[in-house]
Amino acid sequence: MIKVGVSGAMGKMGKEVVNAVCNSDDFELVCAVDVIELDTEICKDVRIKGDLKAAIQIAKPDVIIDFTQPKFVFENAKICLENGVRPVIGTTGLSEEQLKTLKEMTEKNNLGCFIAPNFSTGAVLMMKFAQIAAKYFDNAEIIELHHNQKKDAPSGTAIKTAQMMAEENTSFSKGNCDETEIIPCSRGGKANADIRIHSVRMPGYMASQEVLFGSAGQILSIRHDSVDRKCYMPGVLLAAKYTAEHNEFVYGLDNIL
Ligand SMILES: NC(=O)c1ccc[n+]([C@@H]2O[C@H](COP(=O)([O-])OP(=O)(O)OC[C@H]3O[C@@H](n4cnc5c(N)ncnc54)[C@H](O)[C@@H]3O)[C@@H](O)[C@H]2O)c1
Repeated sequence: MIKVGVSGAMGKMGKEVVNAVCNSDDFELVCAVDVIELDTEICKDVRIKGDLKAAIQIAKPDVIIDFTQPKFVFENAKICLENGVRPVIGTTGLSEEQLKTLKEMTEKNNLGCFIAPNFSTGAVLMMKFAQIAAKYFDNAEIIELHHNQKKDAPSGTAIKTAQMMAEENTSFSKGNCDETEIIPCSRGGKANADIRIHSVRMPGYMASQEVLFGSAGQILSIRHDSVDRKCYMPGVLLAAKYTAEHNEFVYGLDNIL
């Protein structure tokens, strides 16, 4: 039985994770942390605590699954690694520098750490398909669409997709003319290999992404839509099991599928 703690347990993703962990035979929920609704009982005998370090020291989880907020996730992950607990992180917004620090801490402490900008298997396939297509096209842009409570932009999935595509081609804006943005940022943000990322935020969407490839006379569109947060749970549980059993730093669900 793998002992699991959930950080951000009262959030949209956190609640789904608590439910998945409590309904699995492989995991036991031993603690739950959030900054709201303290002391609420969310699963048998498990109440919301406000202090991650104290919760770890009392409940001694093997892994902490983090779905909190971009501005807290780095500190949370450091607290886990400093206290012998393996973080499984779904929260997006970690910088390259922060990822490097967490990798070093994981290796130094001989622990495991798993970070995935997207835990849905369909989204991972969408990224893989985009990487394959990237070999054959010199022009591409990414449109990612999320609900309007998402705090970071662009999405971690869009950034990771651009990184994977950039492994296959040096520029995806070949032949584009010199442009003038009449309204600043109207052409989106520029990621790896000149890939433009456009972030849409509005109610109605949960998490969607479309990667558009173009060449003379053709457009290829690769799209994934998450319509229920349940789609992330098999990936989250798979990553939690992997992290409990391996002393490794892993970035991306694709590495263990
Ligand atoms: N990797 C993935 O597959 C995936 C999928 C969906 C969402 N996300 C990301 O997960 C994160 C959470 O998304 P959400 O929709 O559940 O957000 P949410 O706002 O519904 O939930 C976040 C929760 O974290 C709590 N929180 C804030 N600071 C905290 C702290 N210091 N310690 C403990 N808890 C704290 C909040 O009170 C809230 O309950 C976002 O970064 C989002 O982009 C990732």
